[in-house]
Amino acid sequence: MEIYEFGKHLINEAGHFIRRRMVHDFEVDSKLNPNDLVTDVDKETETFIFDRISQKYPEHRILGEEGHGTDIVDTDGFLWIVDPIDGTLNFVHQGENFAVSIGVYKDGMPYCGFILDVMNDTLYHARPDNGAFKDDVRLKPMEKTKLKKSLVTLNPNWVVKAQISAPFTEVVKKARSTRSYGSAALDLVHTATGLVSAALFFRLHPWDFAAGMILISEAGGRTTNLLGEEIDIIRKDSILAGNPAIHEELKGYFTADDSFISHHRKVHGEK
Ligand code: IPD
Ligand code: CA
Ligand code: CA
Repeated sequence: MEIYEFGKHLINEAGHFIRRRMVHDFEVDSKLNPNDLVTDVDKETETFIFDRISQKYPEHRILGEEGHGTDIVDTDGFLWIVDPIDGTLNFVHQGENFAVSIGVYKDGMPYCGFILDVMNDTLYHARPDNGAFKDDVRLKPMEKTKLKKSLVTLNPNWVVKAQISAPFTEVVKKARSTRSYGSAALDLVHTATGLVSAALFFRLHPWDFAAGMILISEAGGRTTNLLGEEIDIIRKDSILAGNPAIHEELKGYFTADDSFISHHRKVHGEK
């Protein structure tokens, strides 16, 4: 309980930090490709969060997108998995629609998760067997649905990408419609709250999904990779998260496609 309360306080502080910092100039760099951006604010926010956790819980470990915890290879003890700004492209281009995401795991098991929609100052949080909340309001459990009556969130880049295009295209055709929010953490939040019924990604990292998986689970949803396999919380993977009523059908489009499976194995390895 103490960690849960501390986490809520910490992510709200991180939100204040970003809102204050972003009105001043900041550098924008690219990482793996010209569209993979990082700013000073991402790095400073991760350091801000890292310092607070280390002061309060020196024995806990922290894995962050911007360089903290690169040596972490196991899930022993308490592990904080941090994305200081999820949706950096939105942050740079729009100045909104981005989030801070913090997932806490104990010995590899979900402990609590927090996602802050920074510019709306809305906190989504959850802890196992305690429910998922939007600020102080408990999220309703997901209702049974069908894919043809569902909105699904996915990134259009995956739909046009050779080798993996076919099953994503099938999902676009079979769903009522698709959405793309530009922040995986917010995609997962919107799935937990029921704005959309599922979220699909070909490649995410632990900091993108660690908190969102806990929210989805506490809202009655299910998360696996696109082949239906369980997620290892310290490994990158594809993600299929959302309403259990359409999980099997969605998974079926990916597992029926041999070239998708072999490309998935090439990128993410064997389980
Ligand atoms: C990215 C966003 C984006 C998703 C990418 C992520 P970042 O995170 O969540 O929506 O499609 O795969 O890398 O780089 O903004 O933290
Ligand atoms: Ca991210
Ligand atoms: Ca990030």
